[in-house]
Amino acid sequence: MRLIFLGPPGAGKGTQSQKLAESLGIPQVSTGDMLRQAVAQKTPLGEVARGYMESGGLVPDDIIVGIVSERIQKDDCAKGYILDGFPRTVVQAEKLDEALRSAREHLDAVVNIVIEEEELVRRLSGRRVCEACQRAYHVSTSASKQGGVCDACGGRLVTRADDEAGTVRTRLEVYRNQTSPLVQYYRQKGLLRDVEGIGSIQDVFSRINKAITRQGSDNP
Ligand code: AP5
Repeated sequence: MRLIFLGPPGAGKGTQSQKLAESLGIPQVSTGDMLRQAVAQKTPLGEVARGYMESGGLVPDDIIVGIVSERIQKDDCAKGYILDGFPRTVVQAEKLDEALRSAREHLDAVVNIVIEEEELVRRLSGRRVCEACQRAYHVSTSASKQGGVCDACGGRLVTRADDEAGTVRTRLEVYRNQTSPLVQYYRQKGLLRDVEGIGSIQDVFSRINKAITRQGSDNP
């Protein structure tokens, strides 16, 4: 299955796509995680990406398209993948369409997590992430069992540099201006599955599972 997870910052794309990837046995391809890893390792990609990410802006399309195209050609993606945080602009979506066409592959669905802005700010201000495996926690709604340490791998939990209030405002604006047009882009293709993002992580997960098994309809 080839899926895209779409939604504003803090909607739960990472949380849900990781869970779904584990249950489907396919990789979660998160551009945010790939870029953060490159920044942490101070690779040439990381050095370029750092400034864009810290300001809450988007890394240029040609760089992102290059790293995703390379990633989805790897063997572990042969049976499918979940794209988390890509595409984020219409140019990226068109490039993905081209790559899929030339590989004679197609997308199965685009999960659009719908949620209001007030809740996003609340989620991002309390988010902690594992610096080793990138799993997301929240200080009040999904805290780790042993505070400060990842339940899955024992890594240290940290606050993401771009979760500071001013940067979150920029990221939300960037989403509205540059990414939200993709909702219409994929709706027109009959691929969009709107999923209500409020509720427990398990409730949202059940809605997503129902949505991706529904064929050719936009409506819940
Ligand atoms: P990226 O890492 O993709 O960030 P984002 O899209 O802003 O999304 P987030 O990771 O902030 O949120 P999420 O929706 O995954 O929510 P999560 O599950 O963590 O990108 C970071 C940066 O990289 C970008 O700003 C850009 O600079 C660059 N970049 C990445 N991709 C790019 C691209 N394609 N093109 C150009 N630049 C790119 O959940 C959030 C919190 O809520 C957590 O604390 C979680 O525990 C909690 N939570 C989740 N679900 C629930 C629930 N149901 N109830 C209560 N709490 C919940």
